[in-house]
Amino acid sequence: MRHMLSLADLSPQELRGLVLTTMRRKKRKTASTVLRGTILGMIFEKPSLRTRVSFEAGMARLGGTSIFLTGQEVGLGVRESLADCARTLSEYVQAIVLRVYRHETVETFARFARVPVINGLSDREHPCQALGDFVTMQELLGDLTGRTLAFVGDSNNIARSLAIGCAMLGMRWHHACPPAYRFEPGFFAELRARLPQAVLQYFDDPAEAVRHADIIYTDVWTSMGQEKEQVQRQKAFAHYRVDSELLRQARPEVRVMHCLPAHRGEEITDEVLDGPQSVVFHQAANRMYAQETLLLWLLNKVRLPGGSPSPRPTRRRSR
Ligand code: CP
Ligand code: NVA
Repeated sequence: MRHMLSLADLSPQELRGLVLTTMRRKKRKTASTVLRGTILGMIFEKPSLRTRVSFEAGMARLGGTSIFLTGQEVGLGVRESLADCARTLSEYVQAIVLRVYRHETVETFARFARVPVINGLSDREHPCQALGDFVTMQELLGDLTGRTLAFVGDSNNIARSLAIGCAMLGMRWHHACPPAYRFEPGFFAELRARLPQAVLQYFDDPAEAVRHADIIYTDVWTSMGQEKEQVQRQKAFAHYRVDSELLRQARPEVRVMHCLPAHRGEEITDEVLDGPQSVVFHQAANRMYAQETLLLWLLNKVRLPGGSPSPRPTRRRSR
């Protein structure tokens, strides 16, 4: 059984396979009943529009259903242990999506659940967002090898998942952020150890980072759970805003991405977010298609191209 806690849980071949399968599936307009009788359990400790609705809509489109609970109503990690919660939930549902404050919560769930666990955002990663985003990038640019993603902003959950994905797909990662807000030491080194061809580079100057970029990506300076640091972060990131002036430093065909929700006027201006280079709603749409493919793969309903094995062995061990 496989889980999706980090984009690094996939092999590069599996990530490519999920992207290509999503693009292929998206073209089909017919409804499916492939997940009839399948229930997705969702526990969210933080607010959500895109992740919640795209998972629920995706399940409905595939003939399945979903049950949504807030962390508070479950008393996640308070009313009973995470292990007991994971074991119990596994008796009722066939897959679990969690949105949590601490990444350790999804790891503990995955250790004890008997069904696939998907990280629907933690403090470390947002792999479902990145998966949908690589679909969007491939739709816009074709093969992503050798392309450049310039990320302007905090080394947060979105940035970490995207950086891992870029390293896996052969995209160059240009990261403009204040030196004090870089990833933890060792993160790039670990990625390079696994993927020696990875091109991962920091820039103090956003203009330098975006100069040859195919994609400019940004996200909020203050993520959910960091609200107490907001004023300090607004000061630290004041020169890392994606605005028209920054776009003028980039190639005219560059596309602008943001996972949303945006703090308009902070990390990105209205003019850019609503401008012709912005693809943010294309990204939001692809969340649903990508997560449908992910669910189908984890539930052993689809095979990925390129000979990637099905995640669950079909042969049962004889007793
Ligand atoms: N991008 C994203 O995950 O949005 P939500 O927080 O609304 O789910
Ligand atoms: N970095 C943001 C992403 C929201 C989808 C956060 O964690 O709040």
